[in-house]
Amino acid sequence: MKQFGSFRLDAANECLWRGGEQIALQPKPYAVLRYLVENPGRLITHDELLDKLWPETYVQPQILRTYMLELRRILGDSLDEPKFIQTLPKRGYCFVASVAEGASHSVESGSAPIVSTAALSAQSKLVGREKELARLCVELQQMLSGQRRIVLLSGEAGIGKTTLTDALAETWCCNSRPQPSILLARGQCVPGFGSREQYYPVLEALGHICASPDGEAVCRVLLRMAPEWLALLGRQPAQVQNPTQLTSTDMRHPGNICTTLEELSTIKPLIFIFEDMQWADDSTLHLLSALARRRGPAKLMIVATYRPRDIAADHTLRRVRQDLMLQRLCTEIVLEPLPKADVLALLSMELGIDAPPPRLVSIVQHHAEGNPLFVISILQHLIAQRLLFRDSSEAGAPWELAPQAETESAIPDELAQMVELEICRLPEEDQRILEAGSLMSVAFPAWSAAAALNGDLMEIEEACERLARNAHFVQHVGLDELPDGSRCSFYAFTHGIYREVLYHRQSESRRARRHIRIAERLGDMFAGREAHVAREIAMHYEAAGDQKLGVQALRTAAEYALARQSRTEAAELLERAEHLAASANHGQNGSGVIQLTRNSKHARIEHVPAHKAN
Ligand SMILES: Nc1ncnc2c1ncn2[C@@H]1O[C@H](COP(=O)(O)OP(=O)(O)OP(=O)(O)O)[C@@H](O)[C@H]1O
Ligand SMILES: [Mg+2]
Repeated sequence: MKQFGSFRLDAANECLWRGGEQIALQPKPYAVLRYLVENPGRLITHDELLDKLWPETYVQPQILRTYMLELRRILGDSLDEPKFIQTLPKRGYCFVASVAEGASHSVESGSAPIVSTAALSAQSKLVGREKELARLCVELQQMLSGQRRIVLLSGEAGIGKTTLTDALAETWCCNSRPQPSILLARGQCVPGFGSREQYYPVLEALGHICASPDGEAVCRVLLRMAPEWLALLGRQPAQVQNPTQLTSTDMRHPGNICTTLEELSTIKPLIFIFEDMQWADDSTLHLLSALARRRGPAKLMIVATYRPRDIAADHTLRRVRQDLMLQRLCTEIVLEPLPKADVLALLSMELGIDAPPPRLVSIVQHHAEGNPLFVISILQHLIAQRLLFRDSSEAGAPWELAPQAETESAIPDELAQMVELEICRLPEEDQRILEAGSLMSVAFPAWSAAAALNGDLMEIEEACERLARNAHFVQHVGLDELPDGSRCSFYAFTHGIYREVLYHRQSESRRARRHIRIAERLGDMFAGREAHVAREIAMHYEAAGDQKLGVQALRTAAEYALARQSRTEAAELLERAEHLAASANHGQNGSGVIQLTRNSKHARIEHVPAHKAN
């Protein structure tokens, strides 16, 4: 630890100490301070600081002023009479206090600092997620005090589960820490392996810690307690001096593995990150359950990521999770979509600029809805299509959006393919129901899917309910009251992209047929009061390409709007009708246009023959 004045800079935990008080620092101010403290007594130019802290990224130099202000406030320093940071106008800064090497302050010393969120996010390219990091920190603190922790980290594909665990891992295992105070290893579940390879992620994680600087100690424990695992890891020949040491622990019993992992956690606190548990084998899941249920203290933490949508109703993970949650033996951190401010920060980071073009955020958000993988993919797509471009490749050159960016930006192919793969994993009947749902808008009532498919409403409603319960593409959002007084559930797609992909994967003729059935069902349900739903009916006929019925429904809708004194709406509907009629009768005679004619008191709708239309 570097010591200056009454402060100590704690590189292990990336924070600052004043006596026994831990002062949290944001990652960048911390990095600035660290660089100054590590280079005391000399001029550090603006360029040098910018180069060191933002390599290969253009950053406005003014940002340094902001950080210095922040650091001076924390250190109680002054610009005029600096005790620590001296500003050398137009040149840079100099750390003027003397710096001494202080005693190190490790996690095992037991005295205080354990983890700070600033430390966790310092090295990773992580945007936002402060709340989730703070929760991980609390879990980590508890683990370091001897309480075993099981943390589930869940969220849809691309939401940032791995990125968050990377932030955790980097802090403890990055190369600049030759002796991490924690053993941390990752085990990846692989689709298809679950049914064949028992304990696949556990073995992978053990393999990692065997190869770590603490590998020898780890191997010694495995040799004593689980020699067959050592053999499985391919480490036996080098380690086993005396084959009689092999006491053949039966590793089929989770209890034995629990004891072994607990023993490993006495070498150093142990974190296992198991990724994508939706593909885990049952043995690993039962191990998770067994570990959580054991009572003795252990500095052991499992972080298990999974996609809720990909676990079927009968998946072991679902049962294990439910049991552990009920008994409060595990915690779950659910990753929600990033808020708009974080999307903006992510775009800035990806583009290497301070502020992205104002329209860009709304275009990206329109499709991505806060999913960081989607944000990045859409951004790359816009650049590839030259809808987002800059005239020079020089760092700092401004990005510009093409005027047609809003209308021409579409879902990138790879993203659509990713969603398509997810859809294909569902039974065919469910795929058809979701396709039918996509014909409405982001939300649809079950009756519309039943109408589109000519199917049984009750069965379709049950299927939607099941899909919603398993977080498969849709969620239940309410009830639709039908004209006959009955009620029917309403569902919404959890992501607009799902709806779009589901809509476009249907052939045009199939889609048209389904749209027409919905329009007809609406007409039947509202018989005698068709005008109330004429706008919706028109939308389906338009989408089906039936211009004649579309124009008719739009006229009815416009008349209805007019009857309600909604002249603007009526005019808009008529304009649409006009367009539709024009496209239907392109070049044909007799169609004319529909016009809203006005006199001083009344407005009415008239069909104007083509030869009289203006
Ligand atoms: N908070 C974040 N800040 C910056 N980038 C992020 C963030 N979250 C995710 N990303 C980016 O989004 C992409 C997808 O994230 P990640 O791989 O962590 O998702 P995931 O939830 O693990 O997905 P999967 O379920 O497919 O494993 C990554 O390329 C990552 O760089
Ligand atoms: Mg992942």
